[in-house]
Amino acid sequence: MFTVAPARTLAPATHRSPRNGVSIALFGLGHVGSAVAGLALEPPRAARWPFRITGALVRDVHRPRPTGNAVARTSAGDSLLDPAPDVIVEALGGLEPARTLVLKAIERRIPVVTANKSLLAVHGDEVFAAAAATGTPLRYEAAVLAGVPFLGTFARRRIAASFPSFCGVVNGTTNFILTEMAASRSYSEALADAQRRGFAEPDPSNDVLGIDAAQKLAILIRHFAQCSVRADAIEATGIAGLWARDLHHAAAFGGAIKPVVAAAWDGVEVTAFAGPAFVPSSHALARIDGVQNAILLRGAPGGDLLFAGPGAGPLPTAATILDDVVEAIEDVETRTMDGGIPDVRAARPEAPVTGWFIRLTGAALAAGPDISGLLGAHGVRLRRASEEEVHDGRTAQWLTAYPCERRRLETALCALGAATGCDAFCVRELT
Ligand SMILES: NC(=O)c1ccc[n+]([C@@H]2O[C@H](COP(=O)([O-])OP(=O)(O)OC[C@H]3O[C@@H](n4cnc5c(N)ncnc54)[C@H](OP(=O)(O)O)[C@@H]3O)[C@@H](O)[C@H]2O)c1
Repeated sequence: MFTVAPARTLAPATHRSPRNGVSIALFGLGHVGSAVAGLALEPPRAARWPFRITGALVRDVHRPRPTGNAVARTSAGDSLLDPAPDVIVEALGGLEPARTLVLKAIERRIPVVTANKSLLAVHGDEVFAAAAATGTPLRYEAAVLAGVPFLGTFARRRIAASFPSFCGVVNGTTNFILTEMAASRSYSEALADAQRRGFAEPDPSNDVLGIDAAQKLAILIRHFAQCSVRADAIEATGIAGLWARDLHHAAAFGGAIKPVVAAAWDGVEVTAFAGPAFVPSSHALARIDGVQNAILLRGAPGGDLLFAGPGAGPLPTAATILDDVVEAIEDVETRTMDGGIPDVRAARPEAPVTGWFIRLTGAALAAGPDISGLLGAHGVRLRRASEEEVHDGRTAQWLTAYPCERRRLETALCALGAATGCDAFCVRELT
């Protein structure tokens, strides 16, 4: 149990007039930083002021860049803070030196725009507190659903943004892999294809283990529920345990397996989880395929709201970042984006009652044990069941169960395992 603290009143910040153009110090000149530089140097007509890049922090100052020599490079981050630019854009990734440099900029009241979900998920309390204490704008629209500008919109529109829960697909890499597996490709084939196309890192652990999704979920909970939740306190499940046949049977049962995040809150408690879930085909997220991302805000006064689009990619991310730069300069009022630190520290992992998608494996399945009876004796009622089949030398059967508490399901599956020797793999149903 925990309480939600009211947002603090911010001290007014004094920002420079952008009459002579907006000067931007760029921390990072990789995929995102280069795209920001490219867009800033040749901005769309809609841009209100010209932009000027004062320099970029990189590890390797000699490596050729897509922007050629149009952007001066340095490996000394501090040098970009003096003289102070109008805004810093942090596109380094990781925790350090991003944290130190962002805090230094905030200390000097230089507005910060960041796309760094790890920084905000791990050091969010410290960074937001510093921004709130100094009244320094801190924008992070590109940290979640990078190409879909929705966080700022809802930070400014408080009536439409009063809703008690959301769910979403926030990791394009795993959504691509599961979409490919639904077309009968194996997990390793789909992952290799994602890596070939640049959708997955050479080390895909953060994506496939659910770490990236949990970090984005922590940011969304802070933003919408005004609660500070540690990303590593959120139950996150990866996708590596799924088989292509799971996706096939999910489709036969009238749904899809998607890598989802979900959270609900009531002003006292937050429940949250990140991981693969069975999504019925009537659900809006069932149609979000490939690298697309989406977020469904539920229970808003006007009804549910769905936002969908590219979750990553240098150009969509850069466009979002430059809009953040303009808003930071204009000092557009926001709620969560500039601070107002709530004080919740933990989230319950899941809603207590949900439906389930289950895969059983074990030689005993061939003998047709009374699975419905064995599970029913523990209060778990089956909705659908497939015929058993042999897959990679293992006999398997797929089931869906009506909503029940997780503890009840675990007890029932333990009893089933003891009676038949079957192993179970389960994912929640998203309602
Ligand atoms: N890629 C996307 O589509 C996307 C979308 C949304 C959000 N983001 C976020 O944006 C951030 C940047 O992503 P990215 O894809 O652009 O990464 P990236 O291509 O790896 O670029 C990172 C940049 O930061 C520099 N850098 C990293 N550590 C440094 C250090 N210790 N000292 C000096 N320079 C350092 C690198 O320098 P060198 O070039 O010399 O190595 C590089 O220019 C991450 O937080 C990511 O999560 C990315």
